[in-house]
This record gives sequence, C-alpha cells and structure tokens, in this order.
Amino acid sequence: MSKIEQEISKRRTFAVIAHPDAGKTTLTEKLLLFGGAIQVAGAVKSNKIKKSTTSDFMEIEKQRGISVATSVMGFEYADCQVNILDTPGHKDFAEDTYRTLTAVDSVIVVIDVAKGVEEQTEKLVEVCRMRDTPIIVFVNKMDRVGKDAFDLLDEIESKLKLSVCPLSWPIGEGSDFKGVYNLYEHKLNLFAPGTKYGNVLEFEDPNSPELEKHIGERPAKELRVGLETITSVYPEFDREYYLEGQLSPVFFGSAVNNFGVKEMLDCFVEIAPPPHAYQTEERLVKPDEEKFSGFVFKIHANMDPRHRDRIAFLRICSGTFQRNTNYLHVRKGQKMKFSNPTTFMASKKEVVDEAYPGDIVGLYDAGNFKIGDTLTEGEILHYKGIPSFSPELFQYIENADPMKSKQLAKGIEQLMDEGVAQLFIRNHNGRKIIGTVGQLQFEVLQHRLENEYGAKCRYEPIQLFKACWITSDNKAKLDEFTRKKTSFMAKDKENRDVYLAETPWMLDSARQDFPEIQFHFKSDF
Ligand code: G4P
Repeated sequence: MSKIEQEISKRRTFAVIAHPDAGKTTLTEKLLLFGGAIQVAGAVKSNKIKKSTTSDFMEIEKQRGISVATSVMGFEYADCQVNILDTPGHKDFAEDTYRTLTAVDSVIVVIDVAKGVEEQTEKLVEVCRMRDTPIIVFVNKMDRVGKDAFDLLDEIESKLKLSVCPLSWPIGEGSDFKGVYNLYEHKLNLFAPGTKYGNVLEFEDPNSPELEKHIGERPAKELRVGLETITSVYPEFDREYYLEGQLSPVFFGSAVNNFGVKEMLDCFVEIAPPPHAYQTEERLVKPDEEKFSGFVFKIHANMDPRHRDRIAFLRICSGTFQRNTNYLHVRKGQKMKFSNPTTFMASKKEVVDEAYPGDIVGLYDAGNFKIGDTLTEGEILHYKGIPSFSPELFQYIENADPMKSKQLAKGIEQLMDEGVAQLFIRNHNGRKIIGTVGQLQFEVLQHRLENEYGAKCRYEPIQLFKACWITSDNKAKLDEFTRKKTSFMAKDKENRDVYLAETPWMLDSARQDFPEIQFHFKSDF
C-alpha cells in the first residue's frame, strides 16, 4: 500500500447526531476519553447552548468560541485516525448540521430509550439517507426505564426508515438493567456503573447454564428468548449493506455510565467506512487520487470584531493537502496558499503540514470563501451535495440605520456566505427576505450585524409558507410561470429562481397549473 492509501484506510470521519438531550455530548465525550483525546469529562459539555438561554448572546458567543475548538475532534484508536465532527445540538442551527453531514463518511445516531425516535433525529437521518450515509444507532440511557427494545427497533424502522440489525441486546432495563449481550463479539458485558466499561466476559454460547450464574434465572431466560427472536426477525449483519447505507447496526448502552460505548467504538473502527469517493459536477473523485482536492463545508467568523478573519473548514476529499502550497480556488479562479492550516484536536489547535482525505483543516480566511467552495491543484471541479434546505421561517430584513447601509449590505452578504441564514430577494420590489430554520438564527444575524459590522437591522413579518427553487426543461413554461407569478418570485444568493408560496394551497395550485415545472425543497437538483 502506498503512503496515501495507508492514511486513507486508517481514517474514520463521522458525526454523532441526535435530538437534543438524547446524550450526544455525553457519548462524544466518552468516545474522546476512550480515545485518549481528553483526560477528564466536561471538556465538550460546555459546548452547548442551554435550552433556557435561547436569547442569551453571551452564551451564543461563548458557544461560537468553544465550538471552533471542538469543531473536529480527533484521536487515534486501534490503528485508526478517528475524526469526530461536532454538530450544534440546538435545533435552530440544524442547517449547520446538515452541512457538516456532507463532510462525514458515516454517522452515529443516539436515541434516548425512553423517548424513542424524536423529531430532530428524523430530520437528520433523512438527510443522511439522501446520501446513503452508513448509520450506526446507539440506544442510550439504558439505566433508565424506557421502551421495550423490540418496540424501539420497530419505531426506528418505521420512523427513520432504516433496516436495523441489533449487534448488542439489553438484559433488563432501568434499575434492573444487567448489561448487554454483544452479538458481534459474542461477549457478555455486565453493567457495573463506576467502572471503565462494565465487566466484559467472553461468552460464546448464551444457552450455556453459566448465563444464569451471571445474570440470574429470569433475565437469562428473557435474553435467550430475545436472541432467538432477533435471529428469526432481523437480518444478519452484513458489512456491505451497512456501507451502502442499507442496514444499520444497533447498540444499547448508557453513555453517562461508560456502558456500551467501548464495544460500539471497537466495532465502529472495524466496520465504519474510510473516506468515500465524492461526486463533483464534473466527475467522481476518489480519495486515493494523487492530486489534492477538497471543499469548504463550514465557515466560522472570528469572535473578535477587530479582526474580521474567519476560519473556513475544508474537508479533504483526494490527494494530500500541503501547507504553503499553491491551490486553485475554483470559484474565484485564483491561486491561494495557506501558511497556517490548522487542525482542531479537542481544544488544542495545531498547525498541520500535511493532511489526508477524511481530514478537516481550518484555513484562515479574510473573506474569500463561501460554503461549498472547492480547492484543487488546478482542475476545475465543483463538489456537489451541499444543499440549502427550504427554510421554515421568513422575515423581511430592513435597514434600521440609514447611515450604515453599506455596512449592512456587506454584513448580510458575508454572513450569508457563512451560512448563518438564507437570503432571497424579491423580483418585483427588491425587498430582502431572510429565511431560517429556527428563530435563534434571526437573533444571531441581528446581533452579529450590529457587533461585527456596526449595522442595524429590523425585521418585518411576511406571510410565507415555503420558498422553493423551480426548474424546468421547458424554458417557455418557466418564463410563463415567472411572468405570471412575478410578485411571488425571488432570487436566492446564487441568483437561482425561487417561488414564494404564501400558503400550502398556493403551492398546490401552482404545481397543478404548471406540471412541467419542478418545485425543489432543497437547492441541489
Ligand atoms: P445532548 O448533547 O444530546 O443534548 O445530551 P447530553 O449528552 O447533554 O445529555 C443530556 C442529559 O442526559 C444530561 O443530563 C446527561 O447527563 C444525561 N445522560 C446522558 N447519557 C445518559 C445515560 O446513559 N443515562 C442517564 N440516566 N442519563 C444520561 P442533564 O441533567 O441535562 O445534564 P448534566 O447536568 O447531567 O450534565
């Protein structure tokens, strides 16, 4: 194997996703502890906006500062380089998470055993399914009374539309939780809070009478029945299916008690995919190609308003990225080189000389990058699949300080490049509409415009149900549509046509009247 092939095969780049409170932060922290990336729990924990402080900007600022440091957390484990990409837990920043998911090779979904599949989990998994991202499910909080394991698997299958295959199986629950049987390694893992990862015993045959000795009669009987049902109902684990995103292994555990985490991590490094090939508009790019290429999936502004620099996070997709080397910024058609590319290893920043596919590097940027930008050694490539999703909330944005209109325009432009929210400009009157996934995004935008650009804005309500991108092979029909609906048409920041439907009824009737036109709810089509 060549050096680059070796480096690629070692990489495991993934994200942990969950509905808030399911245990994403706790699990991430335990993974980092097992990986030796942090020494004590609590290092990641502070990277959260508390639910009670949705409007507390100090909290948001703090979060931004910390989340730069925890954007990518890496460690070596079992000869693998594990890169965890952090995603904001707050649902109002779900768009950030969607974008981060374009830069991973697999995900771990955390589900709270008592709450089951929640709304945010459904949305995030849907985004993963669109790309067939391989998914491992971790059912958390087994130390609490929760749903029956089979019911939960049914719920995962129906709500998340995943085929599942349990690789561990719980014994008891809540205060009677005894541990899990690991079907992947044929081990019995007995729950022992306060230990590093429970008491693990080799246990090839669950029918052995030894089982009763360890867990007692009734739990042993239940476990055997459970295992029998699993074998008859669920498919056997097949790595190929998992890698194609067609089969999701499920583990049960309790992150806060260190339980079930190590066995999932051990399995993860073994089965999870190394960096995958990426489809660009031009061609498929494979990670082991000699020439470097990558794309920016996230931009982080400096918190200090006196220094307007930002950090652009680049996912390396092929070849070897090198410090101080000239690369082509494809959209700008300019050569650029980076003297201080940085990795973020759990709160420690380090300058990197070389990075490989699957790695994320932070590039200091004075405003040259937009989300989705591609860097290459010279080839014209455009990475695909960093969609914007049709926002859920809309407001007009207006200038509240006529002396600062330039600053406002610049601020809006740069913050949109950073992906803080989406901007639509109405065709007939040029009014600017901000679209978001959550209320907090409006507040962040207003706050940052004021603090970083010295501009003031105010919002005005707008009656809008959906903004969707429209396309058609029939140019005449498209023209007719935009003409007829002119007061409901807008452009996004890439100058694409967007139809603004005020009500579900308007959208339905527009679709009926113009069957030749496609209405898209995300921007990559
Ligand atoms: P999130 O990032 O998905 O939002 O969840 P987070 O890890 O912050 O966990 C949410 C709450 O669930 C935390 O409690 C955490 O301690 C708890 N938790 C995580 N894993 C388990 C588990 O296996 N069992 C039980 N019983 N609880 C678990 P909190 O009270 O909100 O915060 P804290 O004060 O404990 O930090």
